[in-house]
Amino acid sequence: AGSGKFFVGGNWKCNGTKDSISKLVSDLNGATLENDVDVVVAPPFVYIDQVKSSLTDRVEISGQNAWVGKGGAFTGEISAEQLIDVGCKWVILGHSERRHIIGEDNEFIGKKAAYALSQNLKVIACIGEKLEEREAGKTFEVCFQQLKAFADSISSWTDVVIAYEPVWAIGTGKVATPLQAQEVHVAVRDWLKKNISPEVASATRIIYGGSVNGSNCAELAKQEDIDGFLVGGASLKGPEFATIVNSVT
Ligand code: G3P
Repeated sequence: AGSGKFFVGGNWKCNGTKDSISKLVSDLNGATLENDVDVVVAPPFVYIDQVKSSLTDRVEISGQNAWVGKGGAFTGEISAEQLIDVGCKWVILGHSERRHIIGEDNEFIGKKAAYALSQNLKVIACIGEKLEEREAGKTFEVCFQQLKAFADSISSWTDVVIAYEPVWAIGTGKVATPLQAQEVHVAVRDWLKKNISPEVASATRIIYGGSVNGSNCAELAKQEDIDGFLVGGASLKGPEFATIVNSVT
């Protein structure tokens, strides 16, 4: 860990029921969380209100996605204004599942980021290469293209956290090694330095996601450019998520 306050997000994805979420919230409320860490959870939209009214204020809430502009006649979508209205401070944008399963492209995601920020939602901006892209030696090229699309739409980086999530590591149990993650994180920081500014490069948190768990988080957290985590599966277990939060070094 190096830049800024350590940041750990729990992306619950499309998981949970009222009952399981009530249990998870009570585990989080009872957990000891290091002070010097930003902790955020992203429940499915339909449970945000339940989580907001039961979870300690110590933990902030994020949407898992948002519509690209102002709300209106967009069946099935949720707007940034609505996320703010129900108490969210953050939104995850550009997650690989939205890119590769739903088909969102770089430009659309960039616009979403700009709109969310304009409504005072902070953004967890996700990037990451697929296995075949890594094997073809295109990891940096793909990540930089995704980053550029965010950069083209974002004018201030103060409220942005970048999440590097290699697609081959998501939900596979195949975590990137600390060195593999560090190599991309430092390249992303370097890209920010060259293309935005040295100040933004050193202040922006770059977090890692992809099969992070209670056993591998400590080694990853030691890397200089890993400023936190975005956790999927392991964020559904309160005590394990707390271990990851407390891996700050
Ligand atoms: O957004 C977090 C995520 O994609 C990682 O998922 O289950 O591999 O921790 P998981």
